Amino acid sequence: MQSSLRSFSGPRIKYTPEDSPYDSITVDKLTPIIGGEIGGVDLREPSNRQMDEIHRALAENLVIFFRDQHLSPEQHLDFGRKFGDLHVHPAAPSEPSHPELMVIHADKDSFRANGEGWHSDVSCDPEPPMGSILYIRKCPPRGGDTLFANMYAAYEALSDRMKQYLEGLTARHNGEHYRGQYANYGVKDKESYPFADHPIVRTHPVTGKKALYVNQGFTRYINGVPRDESNGILRYLYEHMANPLFQCRFRWQENYIAFWDNRCVQHHAMWDYWPHTRSGNRVTVKGTKPV
Ligand code: SIN
Repeated sequence: MQSSLRSFSGPRIKYTPEDSPYDSITVDKLTPIIGGEIGGVDLREPSNRQMDEIHRALAENLVIFFRDQHLSPEQHLDFGRKFGDLHVHPAAPSEPSHPELMVIHADKDSFRANGEGWHSDVSCDPEPPMGSILYIRKCPPRGGDTLFANMYAAYEALSDRMKQYLEGLTARHNGEHYRGQYANYGVKDKESYPFADHPIVRTHPVTGKKALYVNQGFTRYINGVPRDESNGILRYLYEHMANPLFQCRFRWQENYIAFWDNRCVQHHAMWDYWPHTRSGNRVTVKGTKPV
């Protein structure tokens, strides 16, 4: 049963969002805990001041959304490069001649859709991506929302005993499940897919805050404890992080963009729109080794 996360003295997490004003963009929070919609900027030509404030808005809101943007593939890639070098997905198909422009597509003939199930992108990489910038160009008439969850808040809401237990533990993340996943796009399997051990609780390199860093998509087991214990703890953490208290849900329209920080956010894409088509591209920014 999912916890209400209440204690004897009110909510177990008391989240106080930062509220100092922005002057070159607008930021409309979706919830106090996660998500901010950014206005007043054209991502084809953001000013330096706007870029500074977009960085700040990402750090404060964890996932940010932009409506009615009209970017060419090159402009989408250029926007991503303002945050770092670009990541190439180890398995998913990309646009011809743009390996960093991942295809996100599902239609009536698909047998899967990207991002179903809670995950942090490509956490199986030894240096997993810092952030992902998804630009949706074609939307179903209804559905295809993406859910996002705040992993700082999920960590904070754990009991002190659980925080102590997790301190110093690492978990194995593995990308072997990519095998065969993109065969219908004509993608041939690689000999092997990335895997890595990461701390279960990582410290965000920009904000210095601690975030829960295990996810159902990639994490296979906790290192150094018996497998049944690992299964039990991971099951509890997955149930805990999926509490709606930590979430926002984004309803897409064509030419909207979502930019999430994989270091402190998990996301879950809904495939509730079959047989309709949902289509776009993701630009993913490289990250560093989690510590
Ligand atoms: C993903 O990048 O995991 C897909 C997210 C989405 O399609 O909303």
